[in-house]
Formats: sequence, C-alpha cells, structure tokens
Amino acid sequence: MAPQVPTIEVPTDAELLQAQADLWRHSLCYLVPMGLRCAVKLGIPTAIHNLGGVASLPDLLTALSIPASKQPFLGRLMRVLVTSGVFAAAGGNGSEVELFRLNPLSRTLVDGVVADDHHIQTSFVLVTTSPHYMEAALGLAEWFKKDVAGPVPSPFEDVHGASLFHESTALLDEEFDAVANDALAAHDNQGMGAVMRACHDLFKGLESLTDCGGGDGTTARAITKAHPHIKCTVLDLPKVIDKVPSDGIVNYVAGDLFHSVPKSQAVLLKLVLHHWSDEDCVKILSQCRNAIPSREKGGKVIIIDILVGPSLGPIMFEAQILMDMAMLVNTRGRQRDENDWRQLFMKAGFSDYKIVKKLGARGVFEVYK
Ligand SMILES: C[S@@+](CC[C@H](N)C(=O)[O-])C[C@H]1O[C@@H](n2cnc3c(N)ncnc32)[C@H](O)[C@@H]1O
Repeated sequence: MAPQVPTIEVPTDAELLQAQADLWRHSLCYLVPMGLRCAVKLGIPTAIHNLGGVASLPDLLTALSIPASKQPFLGRLMRVLVTSGVFAAAGGNGSEVELFRLNPLSRTLVDGVVADDHHIQTSFVLVTTSPHYMEAALGLAEWFKKDVAGPVPSPFEDVHGASLFHESTALLDEEFDAVANDALAAHDNQGMGAVMRACHDLFKGLESLTDCGGGDGTTARAITKAHPHIKCTVLDLPKVIDKVPSDGIVNYVAGDLFHSVPKSQAVLLKLVLHHWSDEDCVKILSQCRNAIPSREKGGKVIIIDILVGPSLGPIMFEAQILMDMAMLVNTRGRQRDENDWRQLFMKAGFSDYKIVKKLGARGVFEVYK
C-alpha cells in the first residue's frame, strides 16, 4: 500500500488570491520602513516643509536635486509613503497635479525648525532601520534555537557581541552609537509636553522629586518650570551626569539606580523600566520604594511607560507590540500590559497603584508603599 501523504485544507479561489496578496504584504512590508529611511536620508519632509508644506513631484525633484536618470522613480517611492500614511496627498487623478503634504507623522521628521514639543525623530528612523537592527532581527530564528544558561542575551547581543545603549555599542560602531543615543533622547522627549499638560495634578503639592535615569534633566527642568516649588533631583550614571552643565535649577546626582536612589517625596521613572528584564525592574523598584515616604505622607513612585493593551484600537496596539518586538530583538527589556505592571509592583513590595492617565501608547502610574 502506498504511504499516506499528509493533506491540507484547500482554500476557496477567493481565499487563495487574498492569501497571496496578504503574503506579498507581510513579506514585503519591510520596504515601507526602507522607503521611510530613504525619505529621511533624502530630506523629503524638510524639502516639503521648505516648499510651504505642500509640493508637487516636479517641485520635489528640483528641491532634492535628483539626477535625471533617477527622476522617473521618485513618484513610486512617494506613492508607497502616501499609501502607508507617512505623507498626505491630494489630486493626481488625471487632470489634477498630485500634491504631497506633510501630516503629523512627517512633520516630526522636519529638520532645522524650532517649535514647542518639536523633537525631530529622524534619528529614530535611522536607528530602527539601520543594518545593525536589521541584522539582529535576521538572527531571530537562530537565537530561538540556541539554549543558554543564565541571563538571556538579546538577538542584538548575540549577533553583534555588544549591548545596545552600553559602552560596547560605541566599540561596535561609533557613528551608530551616536545616532542611537540621539534617537533615544528624541524618542523619550517626544510627548513630554502632552504629559505635562494632561497630568498637571500628578506633581501638584509635591515638595521633592527624584527623576531616576533622568538623563540630561530635560524632564526634570520641564517639571520645575511648571511647578517651581518642587526640589528636583536627577539620578543617572556618572558618564551621563558628568556631561550635564550645572543649571542651578536641578540637583544632578551621579549614581546607580540598582544601588541607591536619593530620598524624596516622589520618584519618577519615565521610559526606564521597559529597557530592563522583570528581575531587574523589581530591583530598581525596590530601591525607589526605599527612597519614598508612606502614601499618607504623599510618597509615590510615578511611572510613565508603555502600557500595552488593545483598548486604544488596532493601530495603537500594533505600534505597542511592534515596540515590544523591538525590545525583544535589541534589548533585554519588554513592553508590559497592566497585569505585567501589577506583578512587578507587588514583587517589589508596593501595596497599591493606580493608572492616572493613558496618553497614546503610554500609561501614567502612581505606585504606593
Ligand atoms: C531610556 S533613558 C530614559 C531617559 C529619561 N528618563 C527620559 O525619559 O528622557 C534611560 C536612562 O537611564 C540611565 N541609566 C541606565 N542605567 C542606569 C543605572 N544603573 N543607574 C542610573 N541611571 C541609569 C541611562 O543613562 C539613561 O539616561
């Protein structure tokens, strides 16, 4: 008797044609970020801005000085970027000239302008689409197959032998390290204005606050500006604090948040914990807990970080879980849903917490002793 060959359910013709198109989309959608990278490197958002925020293809070809042999191709790049929502467009149906416009996304990529809350995000694009990120992601299957004892290195560490945002990154590639640090600062500063406007009460009545992993003090200075009575301290690594010029407003402390956190009524952890494993987060949170007084005395840890959940709709949810994949591939950290956060707080010995606000992909927590 002939051996039985395993069989499989056959889709309908319509399902099969749709499946093929879906496979194209899922296998080729990396061309969207590659197109975005190209747009940033060519300076397309800035060119459209300089042309008054709206530009035709001939305007762009001239502004970007695209050589004659490549001019027929720019329209196809713009089409994919319009379809994916990087730029807006109007016209282009036969008689009308198609015009490309900036939208809120592409406005974040305009260089050489100053405005409140404008933190240019070009370095974020250049890092997340960099060969180093791509190579780490390409190593994912090999990484899954390899068993290890002890702390699990990220695919980035496996492939490059260096840890992202660590001294070893500069040894791997000095230019990439500089762009990665720039991207981190731009990413973390983005949206702080919205937080300050939406969460004014978060800081009301506080006498003192330590911003743990507060970098160059941008956040602490914004808090002090809105709430001049708060005595703000920034704790960060010596290599960061040593480079911050004293401003007479914020107290800068060089240290290690795993060992000790300066005592204050409130401790802030803004976009810090998602870089760390659960075990490390519990260690950090325990130090923060030691630094604050009881809830009755106004003590609290304020956490501003990604709060994963589908409640804000599929696009925001997809953005959050893509950011989680980025953490998986490139760091030892992760993005967390409310249940994950609750478990961390309880393991670190806190008694209660509340979600004060949901702001886009982020949540603002207050955690009490
Ligand atoms: C992702 S950045 C967040 C910066 C800032 N909280 C913000 O939102 O703009 C993480 C910060 O934690 C600092 N950091 C990392 N390890 C640290 C440690 N062991 N002790 C103190 N700070 C640390 C880094 O230097 C960096 O400034």
